[in-house]
Amino acid sequence: MTTSTGASRTVWLDGVFLPAAEARVSVDDRGFLFGDGAYEVVRVVRGAMFEAERHLRRLDRTLQGIGIGYGRAMELREVAERLLDENRLREDEATVYVQVTRGAASPRTHHFPPAGTRPTAYASAAPFVPFDALRARGAAVVTVPDIRWARCDLKTVNLLPNTLAKQRAVEAGAAEAVFVRDGIVTEGASSNVWGVVRGVLRTHPMTPAILAGVTREVVLEVARERGLPVEEVPLFLEEVRGLEECFLCSTTLDVMPVVSVDGEPVRGGSPGPVARLLQEGLRERMDTGVLAAPR
Ligand code: PDD
Repeated sequence: MTTSTGASRTVWLDGVFLPAAEARVSVDDRGFLFGDGAYEVVRVVRGAMFEAERHLRRLDRTLQGIGIGYGRAMELREVAERLLDENRLREDEATVYVQVTRGAASPRTHHFPPAGTRPTAYASAAPFVPFDALRARGAAVVTVPDIRWARCDLKTVNLLPNTLAKQRAVEAGAAEAVFVRDGIVTEGASSNVWGVVRGVLRTHPMTPAILAGVTREVVLEVARERGLPVEEVPLFLEEVRGLEECFLCSTTLDVMPVVSVDGEPVRGGSPGPVARLLQEGLRERMDTGVLAAPR
């Protein structure tokens, strides 16, 4: 049994649980050479994974979408459960990370490696502290051109535009970067974006231009349960500054109010009631999940 922090944390690599410091991936791995792989991040609340099945189904869909033959995505749930035990992460909040790449093969070729090349599968778990202080004051965001490829619905480890965008945000003192394509707000570098327009909640429709966020789906359900009008319609950048509310959502941000865009205040710079209501609804679901989860 090890602790979840430091070099002694336990990870899982290709079927073996081992200390992180001993885990090794080949220099020929296509995840390393090409960003050729898929990943997921799952939230853990008091030891229980939140919406694990939706995340693992999405992993399976991404793997199929990029032609990686790994039929065991759903089995990673048991791996994650054991990582939570091994790393003593059953009491507080945590995240589980899973990644599957197309595997290692030499010589390096752009095209797929020979048939029979085994995908590399990796999973880890880490403690997590929710961003509640930021939520209370609201987040600043910056906008950046959406220079990504046309299949943003696939959650691949090919994340260079996202890391560059996030760095721009950090340098501007903002919490998130929001991608804009042809005047339309698509999504955040690692979150989905919402607005309230004339009392109606609005978020980008589920197209290949965005990731089908698990949190987005849950927030849509919560909004409908609570009778809030919702439309899956694109938001235009020119509308954003005049929004009644703007917020982000993701596995790690939950529902995060946005109070400024490119330095201009939204809603006079204060978090709004719709974001608060949806955060409460999401949080309720997480806490109910804790009660319902097998332990
Ligand atoms: N990111 N859009 C993008 C581009 C994302 O990377 C994410 C999540 C989301 C929100 O999806 P979900 O609600 O399923 O977390 C939307 C994770 C948290 C990450 O990369 O760390």
